[in-house]
Amino acid sequence: MNINKNVEDDGVIFMSIKDDEQNKNGDKMQTLDQSKVSQEQTKEDVVILAIESSCDESAAAVVKNGREVLSNIISSQIALHTVYGGVVPEIASRKHVEKMNGCIRAALSEAGMALKDIDAVAVTYGPGLVGALLVGVSEAKAIAFATGKPLIGVHHIEGHISANFIENKDLEPPFVCLVVSGGHSHLVVVKDYGQYDIIGQTRDDAAGEAFDKVARAIGLGYPGGPKIDKAAKEGNPDAFSFPKAQIPDAEYDFSFSGLKSSVLNIINQAKMQGHELNQADVAASFQKAVVEVLVGHAIKACKEYGYDKLAIAGGVASNSGLRELMEKECAANGISFYRPSPVLCTDNAAMIGAAAYYEYKKGVRFGLDMNAVPNLPLGDRERRFHAGK
Ligand code: KG4
Ligand code: ZN
Repeated sequence: MNINKNVEDDGVIFMSIKDDEQNKNGDKMQTLDQSKVSQEQTKEDVVILAIESSCDESAAAVVKNGREVLSNIISSQIALHTVYGGVVPEIASRKHVEKMNGCIRAALSEAGMALKDIDAVAVTYGPGLVGALLVGVSEAKAIAFATGKPLIGVHHIEGHISANFIENKDLEPPFVCLVVSGGHSHLVVVKDYGQYDIIGQTRDDAAGEAFDKVARAIGLGYPGGPKIDKAAKEGNPDAFSFPKAQIPDAEYDFSFSGLKSSVLNIINQAKMQGHELNQADVAASFQKAVVEVLVGHAIKACKEYGYDKLAIAGGVASNSGLRELMEKECAANGISFYRPSPVLCTDNAAMIGAAAYYEYKKGVRFGLDMNAVPNLPLGDRERRFHAGK
């Protein structure tokens, strides 16, 4: 993956992501002219304009047939929220309003397309921050209304799971997927496209949330995940022995709050005894404890449910410790391991376009009464915004 970055005056980072193939061909997407697009696009091809705004990334992408990313634009506000130690929902919503049109224009232009060339518009409608979600949802509805193109609402976590389809052209359900993001820790069986059985989930903090809270406690600041990942490389993972919670009667569920408290105890103890904690050692030991639980549950699920394909998804899936151990354990257990490139693990719209394609093929269409659903459940999700109902 090749990332073109530009820091704007307000601190927002504008990114255009291309895969290496595209770059090898000399920025093929930017040089396509309209006539060529219509020639290259066959009638069976489905081109989706996808929009994502559930948290602090405004993103738009053009995706062909669910797996071919023609453009992938992310406008990341992370620097704006860093000073507050976390995402400020009001700031996020306002920035989405400012940035979204530019992202969509850039996504269409890099794909060499106009709105008339797309077959449908897709958008994340939950879960996420309600004000942030509403910006993308309103934008998608406006485009669908103005162009008469079909509208498809996508579950954010289904998007994360579908990020695996983009670079792994051979990956097809069924498979097991470990979804670990800032708001979710789910172990799911992807039975078919858009069909999920949740076999485990967190009882308290999500994995990403635990990374963020521990990073703040040990003074690494926000965003915690990448900072712990980096610090852990310099530390001793066996310096501290942190608890790995097992939930009786729910062997695939997760709990990270005990681990977080244990880190806080160590910090307080060190303060009382007047000695300084080695940040890198705490980071490495904490990361090891989280990663061992995540990998242990995922491998066990594959073995017990009889699947030989395992994917990971969500922001925490870019953690280097998790990727390494998962790779090693999958190899040792004869399981094929799939993971998106780190830039496709964090929030982006290409993954929303990938998920939307399979909904489109099933005939799923949403009406203009689609609304943001901040706590939209995965799996048996509500379909009340579907067109015609
Ligand atoms: O998927 P995501 O971008 O947003 C949500 O849908 O929540 O996930 C964000 C989360 C944050 O908690 C962040 O700290 C974590 O993913 N994260 C990481 C890493 N990169 C991002 N956690 C551990 N290691 C990383 N390298
Ligand atoms: Zn996410």
